[in-house]
Amino acid sequence: MVQRSAADLLLSAKAILGRSFSPFSGFRVAAALEDAQGVEHPGVNVESASYGLSMCAERNALHGALARGAVRFLRLAIVSETMRPVLPCGACRQVLYEHAPDLTLILERADGTPEEVPLRELMPRPFLDHRKSP
Ligand code: THU
Repeated sequence: MVQRSAADLLLSAKAILGRSFSPFSGFRVAAALEDAQGVEHPGVNVESASYGLSMCAERNALHGALARGAVRFLRLAIVSETMRPVLPCGACRQVLYEHAPDLTLILERADGTPEEVPLRELMPRPFLDHRKSP
């Protein structure tokens, strides 16, 4: 498998930013989740008129990937239109960690260059599946 560059993954996410359904916040987010086979799974944030039912781009990407049968994930690119990198919210960190603790996040710096952050760095003491704890 020829690995795509981090910049290319950011471009994949940017290409689907227009699919974000975010009329309430006006904050568009898109994500591209790369699985171990090199397949990219897209996600955008989808909001609800009942605000609390809105779903982040990161979890939408993960849920779609799982539904397609993907099981192992390597990198997740996240983009928005702000000049600051978008870091996943706490809920997304938790859910991503449960499926891909070794995931590398690819964020976009203000100058457009990619920044790579290990998910583990954002989850130093995660809540884990209690059935697997000693
Ligand atoms: N949002 C994401 O999709 N990902 C993040 O990492 C942060 C927040 C969405 C949720 C909501 O639709 C909008 O951004 C504003 O919070």
